[in-house]
Amino acid sequence: MMREVMTVTIPLSAPDITEAEIAAVTEVLRTPRLSLGPELAAFERALADYHEVDHAVAVSSGTAGLHLALLVLGVGKGDEVVIPSFAFVAVANAVLQVHAVPVFVEIDPVTLNMDPARVTQSITPRTRAMVVVHTFGVPAEMDALRTIARQHGLALVEDACEAVGARFGNPPAARRVGSFGDVGVLGFYPNKQLTTGEGGALLCHDAGYAKRLRSLRNQGRSADGVSPAGEAEVGESLSGWLDHIEFGYNYRLSEIACALGRVQLSRLDEMLALREAAARRYDALFADVSGIERPLSEQPHRSISWFVYAVRLPTWVNREHVQNVLAARGIATGRYFPPIHLQPTWRKHSSADVRLPITETIACRMLALPFFNRITTSQQQEVAEALSEAISDKG
Ligand SMILES: Cc1ncc(COP(=O)(O)O)c(C=O)c1O
Repeated sequence: MMREVMTVTIPLSAPDITEAEIAAVTEVLRTPRLSLGPELAAFERALADYHEVDHAVAVSSGTAGLHLALLVLGVGKGDEVVIPSFAFVAVANAVLQVHAVPVFVEIDPVTLNMDPARVTQSITPRTRAMVVVHTFGVPAEMDALRTIARQHGLALVEDACEAVGARFGNPPAARRVGSFGDVGVLGFYPNKQLTTGEGGALLCHDAGYAKRLRSLRNQGRSADGVSPAGEAEVGESLSGWLDHIEFGYNYRLSEIACALGRVQLSRLDEMLALREAAARRYDALFADVSGIERPLSEQPHRSISWFVYAVRLPTWVNREHVQNVLAARGIATGRYFPPIHLQPTWRKHSSADVRLPITETIACRMLALPFFNRITTSQQQEVAEALSEAISDKG
């Protein structure tokens, strides 16, 4: 049934833009350099330092980042790539973009991340890589997954699009996610913890990968032909600008976006603390609501970067009814995430007749609630009250 179009008074997500971001963006607009300039270099350096990796390469989206990660790791036609189905569709789309075959793997019902034991079971002689997603900002089991990748000679892409700032490991050895894989990927869409409007980045330790990624994002130009200081703007006078050493893409991120991202990154830890506080407030509000399963809020050896606050509804309620009741009160909700292997367009691409009972049963109960840095206590109370009511009238 179509949900009635209502005015949304409490959105699902909202970017947190301050005067500092506005000033930084405005400053760029007062210069002639709107692409491949000093903001790109500064944003990339800050991202690399924050994640304690040698290289960060900014791109136009998280999806572009996944595509380039697979390309640079040599994943191609006919290769199998192990991925979760309980994820945003871009993960599978990127596998298809390099003509490889997505192999969907079951999740751990607690963390909602790929279950390492299932990953091992899914490996065949054709498996070439795995894409590990840190679902909803909860770090995946990186020790086990890295061991599996090493033992089977698999490339490891870490999709940290939902998890910027999360850490895995015991302090002081804990590291930020995105820094464990051969290549890590970040995404900066406006619903993310850190936004550039549209945007993403790749993280890696390997200088060769970084050089090739910079070339691929810029139409396969000779990497030397583009300086981070922006000499490319002078066009043909720069040697290499019109030399394309391989087929590439326009996955560049503008100076405007990089300036926005640089300021957002400088505020990231403060923004993550606001999100954590909002999650704790929801936890308290739902503590006594029977049937609602709250998201995982603590895991040994890891710290969560709160992306969404997604609850599991009781099995006896109709999710669509709940969404309609909340929508009627101006409260937005999201079905995060419908399994990819059940999407009509994906059925024909999976290597076998996939059955993922854990993914399927959990996914149909998930409901993401309004969640953003500046959500107020009274907005959260309103959401909790509306949800409790919707559940008690069962639909
Ligand atoms: C896990 C995951 N991977 C990839 C992406 C794609 O990022 P983008 O929308 O920036 O292309 C997203 C975006 O929501 C995501 O959640």
